[in-house]
Amino acid sequence: MSHARIIVDRDFTIADVSPRLFGSFVEHMGRCVYTGIYEPGHPEADDQGFRKDVMALAKELGATVVRYPGGNFVSGYNWEDGVGPREDRPVRIDGAWHTIETNAFGLHEFVEWARRADMEVMEAINLGTRGVDEARALVEYANHPSGTYWSDLRREHAAAAGTSGEPFGIKLWCLGNELDGPWQIGHKTAEEYGRLAQEAAKAMKLVDPNIELVAVGSSGKQMPTFGTWEQTVLTHTYDEVDYISMHAYYQEHDGDAASFLAEAVNMDGFIDGVVATIDAVKAAGKHTKQIDISFDEWNVWYQQGLETEDQPDQVAKEWKSHPRLIEDRYSVTDAVVVGTLMHSLLRHGDRVRIANQAQLVNVIAPIRSEENGPAWRQTIFWPFARIAELATGEILRLVVDADQQPTARHGDVDVIDAAATYDAETGVLSLFIANRGLEEAADVTLDLRGFTASEVLRAEVLTIPEGGDRHTANDLQSQEAVGLVPLEGVRLGDSGQSSAVTMSLPALSWAVVQVKVA
Ligand code: AHR
Repeated sequence: MSHARIIVDRDFTIADVSPRLFGSFVEHMGRCVYTGIYEPGHPEADDQGFRKDVMALAKELGATVVRYPGGNFVSGYNWEDGVGPREDRPVRIDGAWHTIETNAFGLHEFVEWARRADMEVMEAINLGTRGVDEARALVEYANHPSGTYWSDLRREHAAAAGTSGEPFGIKLWCLGNELDGPWQIGHKTAEEYGRLAQEAAKAMKLVDPNIELVAVGSSGKQMPTFGTWEQTVLTHTYDEVDYISMHAYYQEHDGDAASFLAEAVNMDGFIDGVVATIDAVKAAGKHTKQIDISFDEWNVWYQQGLETEDQPDQVAKEWKSHPRLIEDRYSVTDAVVVGTLMHSLLRHGDRVRIANQAQLVNVIAPIRSEENGPAWRQTIFWPFARIAELATGEILRLVVDADQQPTARHGDVDVIDAAATYDAETGVLSLFIANRGLEEAADVTLDLRGFTASEVLRAEVLTIPEGGDRHTANDLQSQEAVGLVPLEGVRLGDSGQSSAVTMSLPALSWAVVQVKVA
């Protein structure tokens, strides 16, 4: 049995919870769009061809903002190909994913899907093969009311499709995708990208001054240009942009589960590094405004996956429309890691104001769907859905005093990882806690300061199900093998009013505990 004490103090706050921390991502990649959110022939398809079963799961997931249309895809995409009558839309090669793009689904369809799903659209522009002119045209097409070439074209297209011609009102825009990566179509140096992003940003804000812009940051902490890329890009764009992006994907290497379970340590350090770089550019440039972070791609992704039916290719071999790509099957271990990555985002909620799990359906996703078949929740669905639902109010700065666990990649780490929010309006304290120990249960005591707990409102845990192991997953045959179950034995220190809450968390688990406090 391991032990941990978590001090939860009413006065130690980090920031208000940004609803945009619970974002997702829909890329034209693999089966995320086609046979994911959109499948006109499916028995569950609605009048627009959107899958109602997937839509229901997306709503249950609670994603608030959704990035679109890429990803690597966007760096070779012409947004004009995806608007207007379907029969006139060109079929193109998508070089990023070696795929045929039919353009049957485009901007109007996505905006309508997001409206029905109750999610904010975060639109990425192509700064790989395209530039300033196409960027400002897209903002005019999307957001200008009427009476200009592009806004009237939007109205015309909408009228022909029998939908509303009202402006889409897209506020959040990504100035390209991963342009620091040599794999990216139109890869650039930081100088080249910084200048282009500055000019595109300027032109876009001249069309609509109310938009918020995200400059491209590093594709990962491992990039050789990490740090200098952010510094150069922000030196050019500081006045024009509002956020800089971060991307990070994690996986278990060579069966080293202990290190994998502690990857939130890596995420914490990555965020701290980007914050330091932003603030150094702010100081050097004598700027007063604050730039925040849009962590617009993060997840577990087995990038060295086997190319089998279960774990398809990273890139397709034949030219096909919507091939199976990176349909990772997530285990109990992956779900615990996803929980801890979300803890890291919350812990940095004063600077990370937007975050998007990549992606929503089928492609490294919490939701899976089969063509002409069912849709279901992967294991990683659960920590995301609960945190998105329950993290409200203010994020609290916790002090965790826990037993240590040795790891090869991160040194000794706390066996317990946690985050918490307090909602003063409802008087509810929400704790999100992971036991990263693979063998031992953990006795955890919450030491409440400035609060008195009166009732345990909710206690749920995701762990290894009976008869399973840490690799157990939800799949087509067994869609509900792993989920949240009641966490028994959560106690207030004394009966009635108390300043301590105790519980025992099973080995390898992620839990949520909500208490009513005064
Ligand atoms: O999410 C999958 C891919 O990962 C995205 O297209 C790209 O931006 C990143 O490298």
